[in-house]
Amino acid sequence: DAVDKGNFRHFMLKEIFEQPSVVADTLEGRIVDNQVYIETLGDNAAKVFEQTEALQIIACGTSYNAALVAKYWVEHYLNIPCLVEIASEYRYRTTATIPNSLFITISQSGETADTLAALSKAKNEGYLASLTVCNSPASSMVRESDFTLLTRAGTEIGVASTKAFTAQLVSLLLLTISIGKAKGLAKETEHDIVKALEHLPSEIQKALDQADDIDKLSEAFSEKHHTLFLGRGQQYPIAMEAALKLKEVSYIHAEAYAAGELKHGPLALIDKDMPTVVVAPNDNLLEKLKSNIEEVRSRGGSLFVFADKSAKIQDSDGITVFPVDSSYSVTAPIVYTVPLQLLSYYVAVIKGTDVDQPRNLAKSVTVE
Ligand code: G6P
Repeated sequence: DAVDKGNFRHFMLKEIFEQPSVVADTLEGRIVDNQVYIETLGDNAAKVFEQTEALQIIACGTSYNAALVAKYWVEHYLNIPCLVEIASEYRYRTTATIPNSLFITISQSGETADTLAALSKAKNEGYLASLTVCNSPASSMVRESDFTLLTRAGTEIGVASTKAFTAQLVSLLLLTISIGKAKGLAKETEHDIVKALEHLPSEIQKALDQADDIDKLSEAFSEKHHTLFLGRGQQYPIAMEAALKLKEVSYIHAEAYAAGELKHGPLALIDKDMPTVVVAPNDNLLEKLKSNIEEVRSRGGSLFVFADKSAKIQDSDGITVFPVDSSYSVTAPIVYTVPLQLLSYYVAVIKGTDVDQPRNLAKSVTVE
């Protein structure tokens, strides 16, 4: 029952723990014989995707962070530009539309005023069509868009979005493949991504099984006033989402930086009072990230590194490593999201905030 906390102390924790089944539900019926089929999009969508030469994604808050991950996927796998912008900026500025581009909104509620206004503006901006990745079937966003991809996260009660975010990421990866299929994406690439998606519920479950360890780790943050989150590549938006989550529920000031940008400012902030959380990918950027870690450590900062076992980053002076099991690079951002959600949650619990309804925030911002 969506409005029942069950054995969980807060909706946020319950919703974090629902993620293996939310991901499975979002995939349900959309993968057949190692291939992606999204029937609800219809034939017409396939025609539009064939003509699509660029994407413009618009969203707010956590949904915006999901869009930023999609940008890495789209440009890597589809080799077409993917522009991402916050709705409240897009709606009020003079924008230039890339010819043959598809307009995409992402929204949990489907009722966010700024995103709806951006969609309404986009109707006069010469896009091929509009598509919404949305969690609310009966929402204004769904009604106003040409195509809908439902995220199937179920009702989300916690104001800070968790399961809706992972469902958005899964949906955006499915959408990337769907557009790719219309544009000649290699079958092997599709199979590889599908394989990663199929393993995702169990990988998320493994991350959840480490909840008690994250609970212990959270003690290192609860007395701090600031936290820096670092990521690179497709994990940079995950660092952004982790910082947003910590701000929302624990009221600790948190900032996310692309690790390569450290030297252009944030290094000046490093001291023993500001922990740095690092989301370490196990890919071609790992070596670069290790140098970034050293940049922080050598200046007396304390680091908490979420890393794959195979990344061979070890606990040492100033560095606490938290192992994350993630075997597929493409879905790693989704897996790493989970321990970081738990971290924010447990810090908030120690601080005694109103976890499910943080002060000054609303679940759905339907007025400007
Ligand atoms: C509010 C919520 C956030 C959410 C954002 C966008 O700020 O508190 O959790 O990410 O709105 O909402 P949407 O429903 O459009 O995804």
